[in-house]
Amino acid sequence: MQVITQVNELRETMQALRCRGKSIGFVPTMGALHEGHLQLLRASANDNDITVCSIFVNPTQFNNPEDYNLYPRTLDADIALLQATGCDYIFAPTPEAIYPQQNMLQFSFGKLETVMEGEHRPGHFNGVATIVGKFFNIVQPHKAYFGQKDLQQVAIVRQLILGLGFNIELVCYPTVRETDGLAMSSRNKRLNADQRKIAVSLHVALELARKQLVQVPLPTIKEAVAAYLKDKPEVALEYFEIADPLTLQPLTTITDVQEVALCIAAHVGPVRLIDNLVVNLSEV
Ligand code: PAF
Repeated sequence: MQVITQVNELRETMQALRCRGKSIGFVPTMGALHEGHLQLLRASANDNDITVCSIFVNPTQFNNPEDYNLYPRTLDADIALLQATGCDYIFAPTPEAIYPQQNMLQFSFGKLETVMEGEHRPGHFNGVATIVGKFFNIVQPHKAYFGQKDLQQVAIVRQLILGLGFNIELVCYPTVRETDGLAMSSRNKRLNADQRKIAVSLHVALELARKQLVQVPLPTIKEAVAAYLKDKPEVALEYFEIADPLTLQPLTTITDVQEVALCIAAHVGPVRLIDNLVVNLSEV
């Protein structure tokens, strides 16, 4: 496994591998790796000849500077964890290498970015699209792996691939959970022991909603989720939405739909967490 920090070195290495007929899988991350990332890497190593993992805390996708500064940075531990995954290259550039000038790119994803994460984190998806587009250009992978936990991000990347004509297969990998059901996230590292215990209530709220889906009107389900979380110490619900899993647009009814996405964002103490469940209605 090789660590590369220079853009041109990675670009040339990937080009040479592609010329030799090697298939390339790419897993973009912001580091602070956990089992959820490692499963993406193992899936890529299983599907492709070569696997590249980027580790880069992308400044342009943080709408809150404190969140950017506090984001865990654990490069040495990340490199150690990647040893056993089948990863071949780690790309760990500096912000200056990626953004030699102030970013001026502006993407528009229409209604997709006016809801949920797009609504609550202005500019976030512009930063995600910018960095993912840059990485796709440098790596030019055959397949790119993203976790379902960031469902709206997956939808944005799908549009980026379609819109710019990248010849890349998008793989959306199921959310990996702790044994109590909490979705794995690098941000979980910032929870203290009490907050960590209570953080599972996001998952419990999603399960509560899932169980009510076909019996109860959607507004009542939303009220039940809000009521359930209201009493939980240190939990502040930001949104709970029942949405179409591809367009992420809120649904008012579930007649005529096959699948729905239950999406939640909440602060637990100072840490903002998100989670979702994609539910096939024939299975509830
Ligand atoms: O999901 C993430 O960790 C980030 O948004 C990504 C895709 C690595 C882009 O910085």
